[in-house]
Amino acid sequence: MNEKMSDALNQQINAELYSSYLYLSMASFCKRLNLEGFARWMEVQALEELSHAMKFFNFVNERGAKVELKAIAGPPVSWDSPLSVFEAVYEHEVKVTGLIYDLVNLATEARDHATVNFLQWFITEQVEEETSADNIVQKLRLIGSDGGGLYMIDQELARRVFTPLPGTTILAGAGA
Ligand code: FEO
Repeated sequence: MNEKMSDALNQQINAELYSSYLYLSMASFCKRLNLEGFARWMEVQALEELSHAMKFFNFVNERGAKVELKAIAGPPVSWDSPLSVFEAVYEHEVKVTGLIYDLVNLATEARDHATVNFLQWFITEQVEEETSADNIVQKLRLIGSDGGGLYMIDQELARRVFTPLPGTTILAGAGA
């Protein structure tokens, strides 16, 4: 892997860790609104982002390149409403999709087929992430300020579960 590629993948590790931070901050915001189901959805999302970071981390290591962990920026701490927090999720995921596409372009230019192949999983994942955030935004727009509707969405979001991705736990390299 060339240095430009490994730098860009290291940058993506940082972006995924920032995403995890962002969703944890959103979870805390939702808890402050007593929306426990929203908070759970965000916590599961934060864990998924951590596993995305680990997927990049493991790939960079496997290819014999150097992982360089960089400082993680502090995310915002509050949003205007339950709707605006999910609008921010959607916007963030669209931005991440752009970052993944940039990586694919870079890997394609470098004729780095292994990295192009590795990134395919993320292309599919981003479609799912954008769709799921957009669905929730649409529902929240539909219910407007209806408290009963918000309660029902909170119940629905509470059912989200975290399913670890194979080989992406922190201990993956230790045989876990
Ligand atoms: Fe790691 Fe939400 O994309």
